[in-house]
Amino acid sequence: MNFSQLINQRESCRNFSGKAVSKADLEKIIAQARLAPSACNAQPYFFYIVSSDEKIKEVAKSVQKFNEKAGAFIVIIEQDACIPVRVINNFKVQDYTKIDIGIVASYICLAATEMGLGTCMLGLFHEKPIKKALNIPDEKRIRLIISVGYKSARGVRKKERKQLEKIMKII
Ligand SMILES: Cc1cc2nc3c(=O)[nH]c(=O)nc-3n(C[C@H](O)[C@H](O)[C@H](O)COP(=O)(O)O)c2cc1C
Repeated sequence: MNFSQLINQRESCRNFSGKAVSKADLEKIIAQARLAPSACNAQPYFFYIVSSDEKIKEVAKSVQKFNEKAGAFIVIIEQDACIPVRVINNFKVQDYTKIDIGIVASYICLAATEMGLGTCMLGLFHEKPIKKALNIPDEKRIRLIISVGYKSARGVRKKERKQLEKIMKII
């Protein structure tokens, strides 16, 4: 699959089939996403890979219903960045940590897509019960969850996007 095919193939999957995703595939996704760039190369994230049936069921209770049949969840925790990045973040000049998490999340979705898997980034979730279910320390923040699984329907939806001239200007 070339890049153009890959980005067209990726879409938010809300029709998972319930088929399990192997641990080897999940590890491969993270190994590839690990190559993502990050400010200062801080890589300010940690991934809880939820692949057991029991834990999938627990996490599924705290996200939207369509995730019930996901084959796994990747829960992204924010980690401390390096000192220069923390200084910039603290002064609200920029928030590189959140940018870095967004970039690695994209890599995760694209890596999974190339492997024939569906993904959905989830910004809507109940943080507390998920932390409890996964034994994530209270002080940590879950920034994003990605559901991963096999799609139950074939084909790709038409992408709804703003027109190019609304989002760019060549100067
Ligand atoms: C940061 C972020 C959070 C999102 N949160 C959710 C979510 O909680 N539930 C959901 O169904 N989709 C969520 N999405 C998916 C978007 O709705 C989706 O990417 C967008 O509508 C474009 O559609 P596509 O991904 O199919 O191309 C999220 C996407 C991003 C990038």
